[in-house]
Amino acid sequence: MDEDLIILGAGGTAREVLAWLVDFAAAGAPRRCLGLLDDDPALRGSSVGGVPVVGEIRDAGRWPHASWVDALGGPRSFRRRPEIVARAGTGDGRFATLVHPRAYVSSAATIGLGSLVFPHATIGAGARLGRHVVVLPGAVVSHDAQVGDFTIVASGALVSGGVSIGTACYIGTGSATRDGVVVGDGALVGMGAVVRSDVAAGDVVVGNPAAPLRRDERGS
Ligand SMILES: CC(C)(COP(=O)(O)OP(=O)(O)OC[C@H]1O[C@@H](n2cnc3c(N)ncnc32)[C@H](O)[C@@H]1OP(=O)(O)O)[C@@H](O)C(=O)NCCC(=O)NCCS
Repeated sequence: MDEDLIILGAGGTAREVLAWLVDFAAAGAPRRCLGLLDDDPALRGSSVGGVPVVGEIRDAGRWPHASWVDALGGPRSFRRRPEIVARAGTGDGRFATLVHPRAYVSSAATIGLGSLVFPHATIGAGARLGRHVVVLPGAVVSHDAQVGDFTIVASGALVSGGVSIGTACYIGTGSATRDGVVVGDGALVGMGAVVRSDVAAGDVVVGNPAAPLRRDERGS
């Protein structure tokens, strides 16, 4: 039987996951989406990719047999992902972990509950992704790297071997982080940044070599 999904968030990540349903079916693991949940009142009654927005995040419990997909957060809201997801209520065990059939995940890697791994992403041997991690297309999380809960690794980002990334970070498109670097909780690595030394919690770093642009307490 198809696995039923309720997607939390109705933005770009949700659109991507909806497009994966065709690929999951072709790979022999059919799933169907019953609806999207989003707290933006402007989206109420609308649809995304032909799937209706059927309520707010707090309504997730109305579908007791569906798995939840965490498609929340982007470069502006990433630090708030834990509190937004918590609106769905208790039951982290309800979240689906989705790996696109064309991603490469080493058999020696671990991926936490509620994570999404996009097409052409690579997760190396010994890499550990926490809960609700998103690895966007073409990003590489190399061997023995750790990615904390709720962190987003954007398209084409290169996370080298043994890097340790904290909770609720955003690793920007096309950035490169040197092996062994530690990135603190809530940090943002800007697009194209070359990160050669540790990044403090909450810092926004840009450039080559990456240097702090500012420190944020929360998402803007
Ligand atoms: C770093 C970042 C958060 C800054 O955004 P912002 O707060 O809106 O800042 P601004 O665009 O106003 O830029 C502020 C300054 O930083 C510079 N800057 C911004 N992003 C930069 C980057 N990635 N690399 C180098 N310099 C950058 C700007 O040139 C500007 O410099 P100036 O003041 O000398 O003109 C943003 O540019 C970024 O890289 N976000 C990640 C986006 C991403 O990966 N998206 C993927 C979506 S799927």
